[in-house]
Amino acid sequence: MCGIVGAIGATDCTPFLLQGLRTLEYRGYDSAGLAVLDNGLQRARAKGRVAELEARVAEQQLQGQVGIAHTRWATHGVPAEHNAHPHVSAGLAVVHNGIIENYEALREKLQALGYAFTSDTDTETIAHLIHACLNGELDGEAPSADLFSAVQCAVAYLQGAYALAVISEDETDTLIVARQGSPLMLGVAEDGHYAASDASALLSVTKRMMYLENGDVARLTRDAIYLKDVSGQPVERDIVTSSLSANAVELGEFSHYMQKEIFEQPQALGNTLEMISGAGKLEPGIFGAEAAEVFQQVDSVLIIACGTSSYAGMTARYWVEQVAGLPCNVEIASEYRYRVSVANPRQLVVVISQSGETADTFAALEHAKAQGHTHTLAICNVPESAIVRETALRFITRAGPEIGVASTKAFTTQLSALFLLTLLLAKAHQRLDEADEKAYLDELRHLPVAVKNVLALEPSIKAWSRHFANKHHALFLGRGRHYPIALEGALKLKEISYIHAEAYPAGELKHGPLALVDAEMPVVVVAPNDELLEKLKANMQEVSARGGQLYVFADGGSQVTSSEGVNVLQMPEHYGLLSPVLHVVALQLLSYHVALVKGTDVDKPRNLAKSVTVE
Ligand code: F6R
Repeated sequence: MCGIVGAIGATDCTPFLLQGLRTLEYRGYDSAGLAVLDNGLQRARAKGRVAELEARVAEQQLQGQVGIAHTRWATHGVPAEHNAHPHVSAGLAVVHNGIIENYEALREKLQALGYAFTSDTDTETIAHLIHACLNGELDGEAPSADLFSAVQCAVAYLQGAYALAVISEDETDTLIVARQGSPLMLGVAEDGHYAASDASALLSVTKRMMYLENGDVARLTRDAIYLKDVSGQPVERDIVTSSLSANAVELGEFSHYMQKEIFEQPQALGNTLEMISGAGKLEPGIFGAEAAEVFQQVDSVLIIACGTSSYAGMTARYWVEQVAGLPCNVEIASEYRYRVSVANPRQLVVVISQSGETADTFAALEHAKAQGHTHTLAICNVPESAIVRETALRFITRAGPEIGVASTKAFTTQLSALFLLTLLLAKAHQRLDEADEKAYLDELRHLPVAVKNVLALEPSIKAWSRHFANKHHALFLGRGRHYPIALEGALKLKEISYIHAEAYPAGELKHGPLALVDAEMPVVVVAPNDELLEKLKANMQEVSARGGQLYVFADGGSQVTSSEGVNVLQMPEHYGLLSPVLHVVALQLLSYHVALVKGTDVDKPRNLAKSVTVE
């Protein structure tokens, strides 16, 4: 979603700001803008890509040692130049991530004071609020002494989530930032100070970062950072050295980030599972110091997540119930957070999120705690994220930065983490003997190689992609623990190729969706050689009998043969309980190649954002 960068230094900051915005492009946006201080406040904005903003910046010859910039993903108001950030009020400019829930009331209040609005956004209210604070126009308050106090005054009026960066032509040596709910971090470098909503945007200048807490307001000058916390007290935050490397977010030899990330999966899984590489047995400490005790105490599991992460949870449900013998439910975060449910204090609440910033998942976690849940665990790819900071236990997947909007390596590493969790819960409940534990650990250790073998099937999958590119609809079928994989395959296809795709448990076919099947309908079948294969074969017959075109991902030994209307791709040997990890990689490759044939924007599909920080 929206992205923020800001800088204050001794040289022109526009190259950094533009580079930062390019780094944030992956998050999804529809307009961009930049403001600098150079003989007053100068601003450029453009609808569309950062490249268009760059052209405007060059045309207007903008430069300055203090500046802020933004990529906007439209929420309040259409994607258009007049809605793009920064928004200004007289000589001050603001960029903002998040949503101000009471913006309508604030807008009316400010209009009554004579402020004229030029956009439809909630952000413009913040710019005018700060201005009104500086002038002492609000509720009898004295004029704020400086920009820092004015931002403090203004944020006290805001309800909702925000990360802000503010500059003013009246204070040319100051950059003010503030956060509540939306992420914001500072970069501490020799030549100045920087701010961004995502650590990757700071890597070109520094790895030394300071993460702001909710309620913090900070003043950045060239050589100092001054911070006040939510209670208005001066505070210091630690500087941490980011483990991210700048080339981890570069494309290298690949055409798209999605392709790079699909092919990085053996490495990402290897990194995530590194802690078990030489281990003969599993230790609960990999989920946190108190995990041993908690895993013994819990009597059931509640998994909460959105989108692809929720499909990881749905797959894990089959593992947890079968291997650990514990009841397991999976909830969509945006539903759970508003549902009246019955909390069980002995339940382990597991939130899964690649970004750790998904607004609905975060709110669902808060909701679970408010309902009386005490045991919370996060599975997340970003160690410093809000969700990780809010749970008692955690497991950080080591997928590395995921830039493509469509989640790939984050999903398979989530699955590997959930399998580890399953084994530990099974151990804690005396459901796993030593021999089985060793066998499962061996399978996990071999997983990167098994995934490599699936990646080798790319040429055959690519050949299939041409059959899909002119279709408007597709069905995905799976059974058991591969039903969530069918759901994930359908989601991948629809989000990057815009082909309408739906997934069903294959047994449901004749209860409705079979009516859709004809010669124009490609039906993708996830067909592992497991205990449900014979049932699945019967479902495939139902499709064939109606002229449907089958595309079957069959394990070696499945004995499904190609014939008229039945296309079969031989996957490697069946991989037991971990087979979903292999099958999903094949479906990722299918959707990637279909999107390539269709010529869609694979890494930045329309209307979507990487990190969904608003509800
Ligand atoms: C789809 C996709 C999304 C995310 C969802 C949750 O490819 O990536 O469905 O899985 O927005 O995001 P996280 O995992 O960051 O909470």
